[in-house]
Amino acid sequence: MAHHFESKQWSDASKILKHGVNLGIIENSFSPIESQETLKTIEEKFKGLRVRINTSLDWKDNLIRKIKSAGWPELPSYQQFFCDLVENFSKLTETTELGFRFEPVSSNMCVFLHVDHVRLRAIATLAGETTFWLPNEYANRDGLMCQNDKLVMKKNAKLSQLPQGSVGLFKGSAWPANDDNAIIHKSPPFIPGSAIRLLLTLDTL
Ligand SMILES: [Fe+2]
Repeated sequence: MAHHFESKQWSDASKILKHGVNLGIIENSFSPIESQETLKTIEEKFKGLRVRINTSLDWKDNLIRKIKSAGWPELPSYQQFFCDLVENFSKLTETTELGFRFEPVSSNMCVFLHVDHVRLRAIATLAGETTFWLPNEYANRDGLMCQNDKLVMKKNAKLSQLPQGSVGLFKGSAWPANDDNAIIHKSPPFIPGSAIRLLLTLDTL
């Protein structure tokens, strides 16, 4: 059985709940921000934010207000995308407490292949290069934790990359019985002075 799936519809997202599946890719979920003018405004004003959301309460206005007060410009289609993603992810995971993190990436923290100790994480790159992932068949899991990609990738292994505009559903090692099947991934390198990279992650808490 394939351990990952791709779809253009959120209605397929529940495939990620199946045992053995560790990555779901929901394509065409949003348009990546490409306008240089918009990116410049974001770079100058947007500080990023990390918030807890409780979807059993009235959360949408609150979330939008916090995003705006973090310097996010008036971009209604993205505000809609954030709310839809939170709602869909909350339903998918049957969880009301979520961690919403949306920030410009400014470090090289996750540039080696690794797994996350989370249950399930949604990842969307709104601008810049997207996350890399390693198909299971190319993985040597004994090499994890060494901060050396060569030890994790089998000979002739090929890295894959999330398509632009997609949401990745990454199943981590904290998911029940998924310790040896957590999705292996890494961020593209951070190069100071290069184009801004905007990363949104959503976690169950
Ligand atoms: Fe990670």
